[in-house]
Order: sequence, then C-alpha cells, then structure tokens
Amino acid sequence: MAETAELPEFPMPRSGRCPFAPPPELLKLHDSEKPLRRVRIWDGTTPWLVTGHAAERELLADSRVSANLALDGYPHSTQATKAHAGTRTSSINSADGAEHLRWRRMLTNSFTRSRMVKLRPEIQQITDDLIDRMLAGPNPTELNEAFSLPLPSLMICALLGVPYEDHAFFQEHAGVINGLYRTPEQNAESGAILRRYIGELVQKKIDAPSEDVLSDLGQRITAGEMTLDEATSLGHILLVAGHDTSANMITLSTALLLQEPEQLTALRERSGDEKFVANAVEELLRYLTIPHMHARRAILDDIDFHGETIRAGEGVITSLPAANWDPVAFPEPERLLLDRRASHHITFGWGPHQCVGQQLARVELQVVFSTLFRRIPTLRLAAPLEELKFKADSQAFGIYELPVAW
Ligand code: HEM
Repeated sequence: MAETAELPEFPMPRSGRCPFAPPPELLKLHDSEKPLRRVRIWDGTTPWLVTGHAAERELLADSRVSANLALDGYPHSTQATKAHAGTRTSSINSADGAEHLRWRRMLTNSFTRSRMVKLRPEIQQITDDLIDRMLAGPNPTELNEAFSLPLPSLMICALLGVPYEDHAFFQEHAGVINGLYRTPEQNAESGAILRRYIGELVQKKIDAPSEDVLSDLGQRITAGEMTLDEATSLGHILLVAGHDTSANMITLSTALLLQEPEQLTALRERSGDEKFVANAVEELLRYLTIPHMHARRAILDDIDFHGETIRAGEGVITSLPAANWDPVAFPEPERLLLDRRASHHITFGWGPHQCVGQQLARVELQVVFSTLFRRIPTLRLAAPLEELKFKADSQAFGIYELPVAW
C-alpha cells in the first residue's frame, strides 16, 4: 500500500554525532499540536506513535489501553516476542486491571522506597569495594565488567535470594532475552533455561526459607496465594530487569558525564549534597531514557485522542525518549543540566505498569554517582567515543564495553 510505504519507519536510527540523544528523526516528528501519527514497524504493521510528555501520560494511564501482548494489534518490538505472544501465560508486565493488581500485590512490600533506602549502606559498601578492586588494577579496565554489572547484580541477587556465583550464567541468558535480533528459538531457549533455574530455587526456598523475595513467593505458594509458575515468572522478570537496566545506566551515564566537563565538575564538587545528587540522577535518567523500545500497548475500546480516533484492536507505541525530550516539559531538553527539575521524567514508565524496581535503581545510581568520580577524580575514557559500540540492538540502551583509565 503506497500510503503505508510513505509512513515513517520506526524505530529511527540515532545520530552518530550524539549517540546519547534520542534519534533526531523521532524528535523532529513531535508536534505538540498533534501528538500522534502512524508509523511502520519491522513486521509491516502501522501502529500509532504517541510523542509528548502530557499526551503519553494521559494514554498510559487510560484503562482502555492494554499491556496484553497476545491481543491483536499489539505492536511487538521483536520477532521473538511476536512469535511467542500466543503461547504466553499471564505475567506482571502483560496483565491488565484486577489481574495486574494481583501481580503487583505479590511484590507490594518487597521494593518499597523505605526498604530500598535502608539498603543504602550495603550499596555503598559494595560500591566502595568494587572501586577498591578497580583501583588495585589493571588500569585501564572495562567498566561494565569491573563495576556496572557487578553492583546491581549483587544487589538483585541479595534481594531475591539468588546465588551471585551464578552471575555469568544469568547475565548471558538475560542478554539473549533482551536482544532485539535473536531468533524466537534462541529467545525461547534462554527464557526456558532461566525459568527452570528460578523455579528450582523457589522450590528449595519452600523447604528452607530465608529473608528474601523468592522465599516470600515460596510462602505465598504454600499459602495457596499463587502457583509455582507464577512465582517463577515474577522471579525471572525481576532477575532480568533487576541487573541489566541499572548496569546500562551506570556505564552510559559515566560515558556521558565524561563528555560534559562542567556538569561533571559540579557533580564531583557536590557529591556530598544528597539532594543535588538525587536530582542529577533524575536528569541522567531523563536524558538517556534507556528503555528506548518505549512502552507498547494494544487498544481495548475506541479512544478519541487529540483529534483522532484510536480504534479498538489497534496498537500504540508511547515514546518514552520523546516524552523526556519534550521541550514543553523540559525546556532545552538537549542540554544535560544536573540541577534542573527532572523528576517528572517517565523513564520508569507511567500508569499501572510503572517500574517495580525504580526505587532500587534510584538508590543504586545515587550511591554510584556520589562516589565514583569522588573516589576516582581522574577517571577518563580509554578509547575514542567513536569506537564505542552502543547497544542499539537490545531492549535497554547502553554500551557493550567502556574502557576507562585514571
Ligand atoms: C534504570 C533502571 C530501570 C529502568 C529505566 C526501568 C524501566 C522500566 C519501565 C519503562 C517499565 C514499564 C514498561 C511499560 O510500561 O511497558 C518497567 C517495568 C518493570 N520494571 Fe523496571 N526499570 C529499571 C530497573 C528495574 C529494576 C532494578 C527492577 C527489579 C528490581 C525492575 C523491575 C521491573 C518490573 C517487574 C516491571 C514490570 C512492572 C509491571 O508491568 O507492572 N526494573 N521498568
């Protein structure tokens, strides 16, 4: 269809000149008068693309939008998620309404802000230990391996009750699951292996519980509140989402800050100012918006939306980077300003599916960015920026390897 062929292809590529910024073509599409238009995605379908901070929040909070991946029209980000959509059982990230609320209740007490704030000393200790080890050499080193991956992996392991010794195993399978261009078979195999691993752990915790989330889920199974399959699904999502996202944020933010000497100096000089650092983290989350595959939904009932009607059965992509770079919500969005008010960004999503682990990620990032440049003031890139391989092919944006020296 000629009309379809003329639609913008989505997602758009990032610019080589500023690899940290959202794709320039995506930002150019945004028009505050008309926050939605159709785009063409990899499978030839033409979902709506919504851009704009206010419009996106409006839609993501609407009960007529569904996260159910099995619905007609759902705009899949990869061949693998589309291939498995019909065979999936319910999960926290694809359930709606009362069913979704039930999933969220299973985790109500596990990831509260107050609980995460109490973890701060532990996160600080791990951060300092990892930096001590880095400083002991070799110099240069690769930041993901030495620092960014171990910190959130150690934390999510401790919280869930997963042995950290298994980190190479679960990190590898998470990489396959998050890869945009893995085949449906590769994706299914890694998913099945990780689920079996979590299922066996939950079963062990039923017999010998301790103070962790998998033990808590085990007790809920014993109490008849959930099934082993459901506990496995939750544990699997928490383990995968719980380490990869924060690790990408640490590496990417470090590389970005090293390009912004004035902002970096402010961060280093004010690293003892908790409020400044907390705000700086919100601005880094806004600027980088690592969930660059956006929030995707299917429409349950016709919605009149800014002069158009989005029909039941159609798909919608709400662009998280476009919301966070909307100049109405964030004036001069292309400037990284660590002291701007940025906490209304939607990097953790919006509406009922907002990120469960956001308070954990925030505390981790606050500790990291009050410590890293204070303890290693001479930290610098050990490779030209142009040689870095960015993760354009993964669910969360990041950098595969970041060589650093000091
Ligand atoms: C910088 C780090 C992180 C970012 C940027 C991030 C981003 C997101 C986003 C955008 C969503 C909503 C997706 C949607 O609406 O379709 C989400 C959901 C989710 N996140 Fe995170 N996340 C991060 C860290 C974490 C961590 C550390 C955990 C685990 C402890 C976690 C667990 C989850 C879970 C379980 C959901 C599904 C919630 C639901 O569907 O109700 N995330 N995350």
